Formats: sequence, C-alpha cells, structure tokens
Amino acid sequence: MYRLVYISSPTREMNDDEVHDLLRRAKINNDRDGITGILIYDRRRYLQYLEGDEAKVEATFARISIDPGHRAIIRLQSGTTSRRQFPGWAMAAKMSADDRSLKDSVERLVQNCDREVATELLKFAEARDRVASLKATRLDRI
Ligand SMILES: Cc1cc2nc3c(=O)[nH]c(=O)nc-3n(C[C@H](O)[C@H](O)[C@H](O)COP(=O)(O)O)c2cc1C
Repeated sequence: MYRLVYISSPTREMNDDEVHDLLRRAKINNDRDGITGILIYDRRRYLQYLEGDEAKVEATFARISIDPGHRAIIRLQSGTTSRRQFPGWAMAAKMSADDRSLKDSVERLVQNCDREVATELLKFAEARDRVASLKATRLDRI
C-alpha cells in the first residue's frame, strides 16, 4: 500500500456546498481508482491522506497539485505502508462545527489506524492548532 500526505492552503474560504461538491467529485474519482483516505479542512488548511496503488495515488496528487482551489502545497509524507488505513470510505469528514480543535477531528478519524499513522496525523494537527492559538493570542492583545 502506498500513501501520500500533504498540506495546503485554500485560495479562498469555501462554503459548505463547495466543500461537499469537492468531496463528491473526489469520491467518484477515488472510488474508480481504488483510493481511500481522509481530507481535513479547517478553513485555513487542507490536510489530506491518500492511499492506494502508487501510480494512481501519484496521478491523483498530480491533478490535485494543479488545482487553483489551493496553494502552498507541501508533500509531508509518501511511501509504502503495511495496510490500508482508511478502508471504509473514500474521502470524507473534516472539521465539524462542534470540534474545538483540529486535533479533536483528527483523533476521531484515526481511531482504527496503525499507531504510527495516527501519531503522524495528530502531530500535524497539533502543529496547526498551535499556530491557530498563537494567532488568537496575538489578536487578543491588540
Ligand atoms: C484540497 C483538495 C483535495 C482534492 N482531493 C481530490 C481527491 O482526493 N481525488 C480527486 O480525484 N480529486 C481531488 N481534488 C480535485 C482535483 O484537484 C481535480 O479537480 C479533480 O481530480 C479533476 O478530476 P475530474 O476532472 O475527473 O473531476 C481535490 C482538490 C482539492 C482542492
């Protein structure tokens, strides 16, 4: 199994309909290509985990990379893993209204993952939360 994780910034804030439309289009393609994973969206960042056949995952990432809907795309990880981590669904959930932090959303999503994958994704989420709380602190002081 091959996996690729990247982070990026939306070029503009999307409304819920647009997010759903993106997930729907992604799911159709990913079902066809045998790709699963998760997409986390916290309005300021995307974090996506893609897994499947290496050529298919890389082809998908090549399409995603040129999408004008986001920028500053950084590949965080890629390589082989022991097994499919998100077999049940081909792309879903992101930040929900009652999640206090990105880490909360990710914690729910990684419950059935291997520990190393869960740790990796939680680490990214925590880093995001730290940046967000720094920004909030700075704004408080103004
Ligand atoms: C954050 C983000 C995540 C995306 N994730 C996927 C994905 O997992 N699979 C996919 O096929 N397209 C994804 N897309 C859409 C692709 O960029 C691209 O629009 C789409 O794959 C084009 O294929 P189509 O012409 O067959 O719809 C994503 C786009 C963005 C901005």
